[in-house]
Amino acid sequence: MNKRVFINTVGCQMNVLDSEMVIADLKRHGYTVVDSAKQADCVLFNTCSIRENAEEKVYSNLGKLKRAKEQHPGKMIGVIGCMAQKDQETVFRRAPFVDLVVGPGQLHTIPELLEKIDRGEGRQMAVSLSRTDGSQLKIARSHETFDPLRDPSMRPTPFQAYLRIQIGCDKFCTYCVVPNTRGPEQGRPPEQILSEARILADQGCREITLLGQTVNSYRYKQDDRQTDLASLLESLHEIDGIDRIKFVTNYPKDMTERLLTTVRDLPKCSPYLHVPVQSGSDEVLKRMKRGYTVADYMEMFERIERILPEASVSSDFIVGFCGETEEDFQKSVGLIERCRFKNSFIFQYSVRPGTTAAKRLEDDVPREVKIRRNNELLEVQDRLAKEDNLKMVGDVVEVLVEGPSKKTLRETSDHAEGRELKGDGHDLVQMIGRTHCDRIVVFDGNRRQAGQFLKIQVDDASCHTLVGRVQTVDVVSIGLPSLT
Ligand code: SAH
Ligand code: SF4
Ligand code: F3S
Repeated sequence: MNKRVFINTVGCQMNVLDSEMVIADLKRHGYTVVDSAKQADCVLFNTCSIRENAEEKVYSNLGKLKRAKEQHPGKMIGVIGCMAQKDQETVFRRAPFVDLVVGPGQLHTIPELLEKIDRGEGRQMAVSLSRTDGSQLKIARSHETFDPLRDPSMRPTPFQAYLRIQIGCDKFCTYCVVPNTRGPEQGRPPEQILSEARILADQGCREITLLGQTVNSYRYKQDDRQTDLASLLESLHEIDGIDRIKFVTNYPKDMTERLLTTVRDLPKCSPYLHVPVQSGSDEVLKRMKRGYTVADYMEMFERIERILPEASVSSDFIVGFCGETEEDFQKSVGLIERCRFKNSFIFQYSVRPGTTAAKRLEDDVPREVKIRRNNELLEVQDRLAKEDNLKMVGDVVEVLVEGPSKKTLRETSDHAEGRELKGDGHDLVQMIGRTHCDRIVVFDGNRRQAGQFLKIQVDDASCHTLVGRVQTVDVVSIGLPSLT
């Protein structure tokens, strides 16, 4: 079979990784990847359910394919990922021309199901059991991790990769769909993780980011031995070729002294910790069932400051959660001011069907108030981040160069006379890189620097970005003839 597939991915890093895996699998089954739905025989939407607008966007994008499907009935349309698991038959009801619905725990079934559809066997669905659909073991087994061969061509860059160490979540925060869509928390066996990391290193990957919804809760039990994230980091650190190791997302209560000292003692581990707090008010945290108080979070934060004073910390906040008063909200502002996060992702609360909050709490903060609080919190976050970034002006930072910046890509796209394609890699363009502590740095460079570690002198900064120039080597002092 030689079919063309197009995949559209939204949602978190886990979804980006799932799409990489699905495409690698489909390629092995004879598919080629195309970059528009129009050219494709098979269009897949890898979806997210975290907020309502993420889902509405998918349904609206699906709607746009209705005519194409009428004109080309053979075009297969699939909805995969978290929304597929959550909505199941509802996807077929809302978009009757969809052929395939596959949850994130059943991704391995996609090639076979597409073949069935192609043979005329009608629409197909593969989803995992819901959290109340049977024994713990049966439910866990129906949510399978999907980590077949890696496909560097599908990654944002070939030298950076996500590596799954854990699936699912057992925290059941009252607002969140993830424990339902991704199923029970399950750690992957350390041998599998290590062998995948070695494959990635052989493929030229220099930075890996370990993924899990609560990645620092990672545990794997084998006979009487238990592996946690700290010991996994120690083993990964031994792999030649891998120079940087990051991990996201952390759960505040599992940020142990042992994990932090491990990060401190292993130079390849990035001093960057994403540890979402969600709110600065104890009452709100309690209704969210986050399992910690503001004092607990601050204790953890101070542990980070003590053990890893150079670390950058980032967070997530939800504004306008059920019952959030102005006073509660001001406590979130106060917490941002105290912690001075490198960055924060701020979200307006969105009711998710099936969650405890949807069943038991009233979504009583008006939309305008949510928007205002969102803007206000973002304003404080950005102001402080800019102040902190400006303090780095004059410093020299080391970056892993990721590639041309968005600006460069915009200016040199095919529409701009294909300059990007003509360039020989030496043309001066704006490049982008990241520091060990995950700060974005833009600088003038050339495309051949992608994948290299470079020292950049910081000249300026905004709230999200450092601006700098490649630190030039003093050619005279190292005794080389001058190039000019
Ligand atoms: N596992 C991660 C977060 C995964 S979801 C953690 O626990 O930190 C990413 C972020 O989306 C969450 O941190 C939260 O801030 C936000 N989020 C989750 N559910 C939401 C909802 N119903 N409405 C608005 N934001 C939500
Ligand atoms: Fe959702 Fe909470 Fe689990 Fe994060 S820890 S995925 S917010 S339930
Ligand atoms: Fe969205 Fe599922 Fe990730 S709901 S945030 S794609 S785990």
